[in-house]
Amino acid sequence: MRDYREFLGEVLIPEEKLQTRIAELGAQISRDYAGKSDLLLVCILRGGVLFLTDLMRRITIPHAIEFMAVSSYGVGGRESSGKIRISLDLNVDIQNRDVILVEDIIDSGQTIAAVLDLLSTRKPASICVCTLLDKADRREVPVPVKYTGFSIPNKFVFGYGLDIDDYYRNLPFIGVVDLNKYQAGS
Ligand code: PRP
Repeated sequence: MRDYREFLGEVLIPEEKLQTRIAELGAQISRDYAGKSDLLLVCILRGGVLFLTDLMRRITIPHAIEFMAVSSYGVGGRESSGKIRISLDLNVDIQNRDVILVEDIIDSGQTIAAVLDLLSTRKPASICVCTLLDKADRREVPVPVKYTGFSIPNKFVFGYGLDIDDYYRNLPFIGVVDLNKYQAGS
């Protein structure tokens, strides 16, 4: 993989701005769920990992974490096929628990809508969605989003959990790929 600086168009959300907003979300969740005894954060792999680990450090009330992995059937690449496969399910019962789904980005909405549909059948006390990024212009199915870090335009973003061809999830900021530069070098 090439150095990302060769195809970085711009830094859309710098590290400090990300961390400030995540602290606000953690404080908000701590207030909203104060007094609830069984809060569970469910991280959708893989993109949600960095967001989860920073968010949970900003939540001041007791909570547990779990992970799910979801992938699209059929078409590869960056577009959603609209068909979802659960490749890693929860290992715990969520009945009567307060569940927050933690995502890096909602694009078409297909992934999180499918997860919401599935987990809602397991009778949680409540379930909601917390996403760092929301590309609302791309929505194909309606999704109720309770907590949003940033609404972003329809640009190809990477970093802070989001990959470009499986790399660069570790970057501490959200960058925009300059597709001309990216394709020119591949
Ligand atoms: C990304 C992202 C969301 C989903 C959003 O995951 O993490 O789960 O796509 O797209 P949608 O709203 O159109 O369904 P991806 O399938 O790229 O897997 P990854 O998290 O392992 O990178």
